[in-house]
Amino acid sequence: MKINYLQLHNFRNYENLKLNFGDNLNIIYGNNGVGKTNLVEAIYALSITKSFRTNNDKFLIKHGQLSTKIEGEVETNTVNNYEVIISKEGKKVKIDGNIISKISDYISNINIVLLEPEEQNIFKESPSSRRKLLNIELSKLEKDYIIYLNIYNKILKQRNFYLREAYLNGNSSKEYLDIITKKLVTYGLKIYEIRKNFIEKINLYLSDLYLKIFKQGNLIVKYNSDFDKSEQEIIDRYNKNYNREVVMGKSLYGIHHDDLIFYLDNQNIAEWGSNGQQKNAIFSFKLAEIEVIKAEKGMTPILILDDLFSALDNQKVKNIVNILDNQIQTFITTTDLNKISKKIIKNGKIFNIKDEEITEV
Ligand SMILES: Nc1ncnc2c1ncn2[C@@H]1O[C@H](COP(=O)(O)OP(=O)(O)OP(=O)(O)O)[C@@H](O)[C@H]1O
Ligand SMILES: [Mg+2]
Repeated sequence: MKINYLQLHNFRNYENLKLNFGDNLNIIYGNNGVGKTNLVEAIYALSITKSFRTNNDKFLIKHGQLSTKIEGEVETNTVNNYEVIISKEGKKVKIDGNIISKISDYISNINIVLLEPEEQNIFKESPSSRRKLLNIELSKLEKDYIIYLNIYNKILKQRNFYLREAYLNGNSSKEYLDIITKKLVTYGLKIYEIRKNFIEKINLYLSDLYLKIFKQGNLIVKYNSDFDKSEQEIIDRYNKNYNREVVMGKSLYGIHHDDLIFYLDNQNIAEWGSNGQQKNAIFSFKLAEIEVIKAEKGMTPILILDDLFSALDNQKVKNIVNILDNQIQTFITTTDLNKISKKIIKNGKIFNIKDEEITEV
């Protein structure tokens, strides 16, 4: 999979920009603040329809403008034109000029894997950030995943609402709750299965990749879920805890509590790992994902390495670049071209950003 060209209109600091990319390595270099991350953020947003830096799409619109358009031509088995248009009124996405009304029909098409320094924060944040990682990665891989997740979240809201009502009124019908619970478990188990399968596949590659970058340590990732039980066991657990749930006013079990725990040599890396170990762990996870996408979709995703030199020492970045399949279209941003070995640069297309201009070197 590769992106042939990208065209931006009023995106971040870019007013109008069109770039043709190389099939393999694309290196984007320039000083701090010139718009390197903005550029790869646009490629990411073309795929996911969202930024990796902000939850508020409006920040993507150039200051003082009303809307932004990201457009690109992406080549898989076919060549298609993709568009994401963001305005104050909302977001529109198009494939080959046709508006796509279901977002799940859009985002499963362009597979992007992103490595960036902030990613390491998932070890410091709450489980919801690890679930967000799962959700983003799986929405690219499994078309139905987001649909199931949206249904689950809707049922969860209903169920929580019902539990609060039961607390306030005391006379609500348990039969009605049982119907909602059954639905919650049905959809929860669908999501559980997809997440479990994904993590099993990630583990096939994870420790090997970690070793190749870091040269020592055994890394595995464990998927923790309340739903690692049979349907009946889960329902029994809800029944047993009915009164507690009513008092708390919320559903105490479910895939909305899922978590990922990374173990390095049997120690939880969130608690014991050094900064560097944590970075390498999440990067290894992302590189493992490339292998999973290759196996599942029969093609390589597009890879973005944003500012890796500020996160890792040169040798580790070299180790990462050496692992990469040279078929994979890769975008690397850096402030210093000298940090990238001559051998790698030789095969790349190089873009320099300076004074609001991008020139091919
Ligand atoms: N919505 C926006 N409209 C106009 N300019 C913006 C907008 N959002 C961000 N910018 C500008 O983009 C620049 C930051 O770009 P970016 O983060 O891509 O830099 P960078 O080249 O990756 O820098 P670094 O090397 O520090 O990572 C800032 O100057 C910022 O003011
Ligand atoms: Mg940057």
